[in-house]
Amino acid sequence: MDSFIRLLLLVVCLFPALVHCNLRRYNFDVVMKKSTKLCSSKSIVTVNGRFPGRTLYAREGDTVIVKVTNHVKYNVSIHWHGIRQLRTGWADGPAYITQCPIQTGQSYVYNFTITGQRGTLLWHAHINWLRSTVHGAIVILPKRGVPYPFPKPDKEVVVVLGEWWKSDTEAVINQALKSGLAPNVSDSHTINGHPGPLSSCSSSGGFTLPVESSKTYMLRIINAALNEELFFKIAGHKLTVVEVDATYVKPFKIDTVVIAPGQTTNVLVSADQSSGKYLVTASPFMDSPIAVDNVTATATLHYSGTLASTPTTITKPPPQNATAVANNFIDSLRSLNSKTYPARVPQTVDHNLLFAVGLGVNPCPSCKAGNGTRVVASMNNVTFVMPTTALLQAHFFNISGVFSTDFPGNPPNVFNYTGTPPANLQTNSGTKVYRLAYNSTVQLVMQDTGIIASENHPIHLHGFNFFAVGKGLGNFNPKTDQKKFNLVDPVERNTIGVPSGGWVAIRFRADNPGVWFMHCHLEIHTTWGLKMAFLVDNGKGPNQSLLPPPSDLPKC
Ligand code: C2O
Repeated sequence: MDSFIRLLLLVVCLFPALVHCNLRRYNFDVVMKKSTKLCSSKSIVTVNGRFPGRTLYAREGDTVIVKVTNHVKYNVSIHWHGIRQLRTGWADGPAYITQCPIQTGQSYVYNFTITGQRGTLLWHAHINWLRSTVHGAIVILPKRGVPYPFPKPDKEVVVVLGEWWKSDTEAVINQALKSGLAPNVSDSHTINGHPGPLSSCSSSGGFTLPVESSKTYMLRIINAALNEELFFKIAGHKLTVVEVDATYVKPFKIDTVVIAPGQTTNVLVSADQSSGKYLVTASPFMDSPIAVDNVTATATLHYSGTLASTPTTITKPPPQNATAVANNFIDSLRSLNSKTYPARVPQTVDHNLLFAVGLGVNPCPSCKAGNGTRVVASMNNVTFVMPTTALLQAHFFNISGVFSTDFPGNPPNVFNYTGTPPANLQTNSGTKVYRLAYNSTVQLVMQDTGIIASENHPIHLHGFNFFAVGKGLGNFNPKTDQKKFNLVDPVERNTIGVPSGGWVAIRFRADNPGVWFMHCHLEIHTTWGLKMAFLVDNGKGPNQSLLPPPSDLPKC
């Protein structure tokens, strides 16, 4: 019945002039493309030959249909990061979680409706490390006739931040997994695909943002980097933050934005300075002793009428360990929480969860470089093992033996998470999910463990937005910390940093049936196993169950 109604809707939507609904159709052809950025020449995996990939435009309420065809030697899948996918988990995209990957020569049609969301998100490959070059922006405009809750900018510009390796990224990660050690850091950051004019390989000149005096611009900034959180800054200009992760925030002015992989930030910039050229920088934020790519990507804000010979006004990016600069941004974020856009924070909690997140060390006899050990990562000491059948399929078709539902709601070993690590750093392995009844409410505290090093982990939850109700340093104390939670206007997002040596608390309502991946959006940590999934049961109501899979769902 459900699928019949959907089919009917699709047919009706073919005549958008007659009814008030809209279809957006895209073809994504995954192809190899020769690229010569950054003094290296290599073949990269792309969508339609472009890096970054094209922007997917839609309006709130639209149905989006993307036919993805795989013309490369790798298996692929595409994730629409932050799109809620209400009842359409089959279109979410993480390989082996909601679908088997699209094999070479095959195609799959992603079909989903954007409900109750507007703003900037991103799409990216969700298998191995392919998302390093397979990514692009999603721009969801408000419904026709609905204004932004802030003054309309004169122009909007998509700014995609990325990370570039001179060598092939699939080789980089495979080599690291063999050794048991961390992979090479990238060779440069990029702004809209360019390392920029200050790079030693500036053949491209870099991205230029042309502006006219006294006009206002909205930058839709996306961090599509694999492993690095980034500071973003424009010389001489304040940024007014109006939205993160496709939810409106109370506007505030700031010099520097911090943005983790998977996050998006919309800022307004007024061209209110004397005409000239101003440097734009994207530089790493890492406040723990871990190697990063410290090459700052640059671009130029260029006032019209500026002579080519005019020197660029430069700015210094914050030092990479500038925790205070990052916190100044993070702590300023509040939901807009207006009449039209209320913050629906769950006020009661059905599942009170604590997940310890961090690294570990497991034996690996073949890992010579790692002296017989390998670095792993875990949540509640479970290093997630990717299944060979997609979890959502196993769930929907009742295939047993693919996963178990015993993911622990609390750390199995209690220790001083932010103190001296325990002697035994080994983790358990398993494909475990945590089960939630439809519409139940969840409070999840994620606690960084200082194992190997304390580190900021940007955790992304598929299928939901959540509210960031609290954060702190040290070990979470339920007695004292919970009292300080903001249950009124906490920021709503889909990816949140667990601070180095601290914790973050989120709340969400499990109102979307299906299987939803949750993982660190630093790709290396995902690879190492810092991932799990929530299984949300169907509800009893007519619109509360997972729809059946489309007929072209890929097979493993
Ligand atoms: Cu943006 Cu599971 O990913």
